[in-house]
Amino acid sequence: MSAGNSPAPAAARPYRPPAPLPRTKPLSKLGFMVALRENPISTWGIWNFENPITTGRTALGPMTGVSSPEGIRHVMVDNVGNYVKDRLQLRVLKPGLGTGLLTAEGESWKAARRTLAPLFAPRTVETFVGTMQAKAGAMVARLQAQPLGARVNISDEMTRVTFEILTDTLFSDAVDGTSQEFGEAFTRYFENQGKISPLDMLNAPDWIPRFNRYRAQPAINFFEEKVRQIIARRRALLATPGAAVPRDILTLLLEAADPETGVGLSEAEVGANIVTFLGAGHETTANALSWTLFLLAKHPAAQSAVAREAREAENLALVDWLDNLPMTRAVIEEAMRLYPPAPTLSRMALAEDEIQGVRVAAGSTVIISPYVVHRHRSLWSEPDYFRPERFLPPARDQIDRYAFIPFGAGPRVCIGQRFAMHEAVIVLATLMRHFGFAMPKGESVMPLQRITLRPSPRLEMLLQRADAAG
Ligand code: HEM
Repeated sequence: MSAGNSPAPAAARPYRPPAPLPRTKPLSKLGFMVALRENPISTWGIWNFENPITTGRTALGPMTGVSSPEGIRHVMVDNVGNYVKDRLQLRVLKPGLGTGLLTAEGESWKAARRTLAPLFAPRTVETFVGTMQAKAGAMVARLQAQPLGARVNISDEMTRVTFEILTDTLFSDAVDGTSQEFGEAFTRYFENQGKISPLDMLNAPDWIPRFNRYRAQPAINFFEEKVRQIIARRRALLATPGAAVPRDILTLLLEAADPETGVGLSEAEVGANIVTFLGAGHETTANALSWTLFLLAKHPAAQSAVAREAREAENLALVDWLDNLPMTRAVIEEAMRLYPPAPTLSRMALAEDEIQGVRVAAGSTVIISPYVVHRHRSLWSEPDYFRPERFLPPARDQIDRYAFIPFGAGPRVCIGQRFAMHEAVIVLATLMRHFGFAMPKGESVMPLQRITLRPSPRLEMLLQRADAAG
């Protein structure tokens, strides 16, 4: 049994947020393909949320779903050398993201991870806190220009603030393009490429055209063009004697050299990493923040508690955010439990393996779904309910490391985890100091998996005075 499992106090009325109901009967092969294409999280059956390991033959071939902390640890840590990113995942991600850190394997992954790690070290991330605060402040100023009661597109606002933070910190403002342009390109890419084609499910050869890829192509062209511009400008700066060159992700990528061979990253690898960081680095956090605000709108007591904590922490020293706003952090973590921005992680087994007594064939797919694990009946009490107190200390310490995996685990754990948590806490606290949020009457959203897990339709909320919710 994992943490946060003591029953809710009678006074606290937990809220059950929207999600597809787990299926009670297995889908036919065709039904599975249709549901997978429409919304992959709707394919899960109740048995997935009840058993540690499930096996089956789907339209995608033999598949093992691993949802126990012990099994997850086996795949992601103890026997990690036996598991690589699987074919379908690469087919979805590679056309746009190329071979960047997220999709690379073996030595090229190791070299890239080593090169980029210093940029995400705790001490470096702390130097970004000032920028995170400034961009969150600019968002507050934008919203203050709106009348109270105005309807605000929260999905757009969160995309904008996270994009601005990312480009200012990791790219030193070298990205030429607005959050709206990039936001639209990533949405178009995820929307089309993230809709899994039946041809991909059937492992049809790459030369057979896929309609969804055709529709994703303008976004891919946009990325290529932007990347060319970004690299050319930075190369020019590096070649200018005496120019002040920022030690950011671009410089690290362009100067990276393997210590053994001295070989640097190819032009394609540099470009792939730029798009990867732009893609992986803001959509995910923007979705986490959008879901958090939605849940707070539905739970006024939690909203008041976060607002109070944020106001009390007004004079916090710059680097102290993450550890001194426990309620703010807890609601973000509870939102990522219910709506993990990366809801499905998948791998292919290189050699035959055994996980908790279950045989895994060589070449078969292993799915670890944070969405399923985070709502698993044997790991959480009231798994489908919003109960942020699970993540408040000391209850939080009881949560099994492998029962809460929004950022993955093991050597391929999200490199931007600390960056994202700092950012999310700062943006949420800054917002909640100034505003309250409510859902327009009669409106709701559902989680839709398109690579990331986002609210559908895009989230619009009503702006209120900061204390209105309390
Ligand atoms: C709430 C925000 C975020 C979530 C939930 C998230 C989630 C994840 C997950 C689950 C993985 C592992 C994927 C796997 O094992 O297959 C991952 C990897 C990765 N993430 Fe994040 N991420 C977030 C924010 C960020 C940010 C802010 C950045 C960069 C600034 C980033 C960059 C990456 C990269 C480059 C990888 C690949 C790491 C590797 O394979 O070595 N992510 N992320």
